[in-house]
Amino acid sequence: MSKVIALAGKGGVGKTTVAALILRHLAESGESPVLAVDADPNSNLGETLGIDVDKSVGDVREGFMKNPQGVPSGMDKIVYLEMLMHQVLIEQQAFDLLVMGRQEGQGCYCMVNNILNRFTEELEKNYKYLMVDNEAGMEHLSRRTSGKVDMLLLVTDYALRGLRAVKRINDMLEELKLNVGQVGLIVNRAPKELGKAFLDECENIGVPIICTIPDDGALLEFDMEQRSLMELPADSAAVMAVDGLMNKVAEYIG
Ligand SMILES: Nc1ncnc2c1ncn2[C@@H]1O[C@H](COP(=O)(O)OP(=O)(O)O)[C@@H](O)[C@H]1O
Ligand SMILES: [Mg+2]
Repeated sequence: MSKVIALAGKGGVGKTTVAALILRHLAESGESPVLAVDADPNSNLGETLGIDVDKSVGDVREGFMKNPQGVPSGMDKIVYLEMLMHQVLIEQQAFDLLVMGRQEGQGCYCMVNNILNRFTEELEKNYKYLMVDNEAGMEHLSRRTSGKVDMLLLVTDYALRGLRAVKRINDMLEELKLNVGQVGLIVNRAPKELGKAFLDECENIGVPIICTIPDDGALLEFDMEQRSLMELPADSAAVMAVDGLMNKVAEYIG
């Protein structure tokens, strides 16, 4: 079974950046195969990795719902949908990327969702690692039948508001029927020393800090130049922090 690493937290705190750097680390460590799932409807994991994404699972779903009669004659609709899903999977040297894309519109999606969920669950079985960049509701994770997440990384910036979002997500885990092995807190854009109010709130939430990432100017530079974070120098502060994070994650989930 694949090892599932998932990221969650408020928008803008750095989930996608960390996700990209986790992929970078796994690639550098020769860990493969890896499936990256971009489960945020405002998907941009591909962008941070320099990958052009032109289709998502959401597009397949909406296209099918708009025109259910569009299945080529003589073809089973399950086979047809699976064929379209194969086209959504982006295969890279270091990892594959599946972009979930937009959320569903109005209508009854049960049938198409069941087919798509079954496809992604079967697909996931082929990988050693599954790395999921989530939106705050973690819908993609809660849909999977096993609900298994080996390592849940909750990301916050150095602000109490980010921490409150972390608390909400952490409180929601049971309700979502997620079977989470380990939970760790990542404090992104952290100062050298964390203040008492912030640390008190972390303790109150009860999720241990697994990693702090300093502000890294190289990220802004790469963003402006639209360069892939895979190309960040190995000694950039954010890369080194995520390498350290992954060493700890490996200790937890092996
Ligand atoms: N440690 C950091 N140092 C500097 N900039 C950062 C850092 N982490 C994230 N950023 C920047 O913050 C913005 C939001 O990050 P992003 O990873 O897209 O957040 P999220 O996925 O949580 O919405 C991006 O422009 C990113 O480059
Ligand atoms: Mg994001």
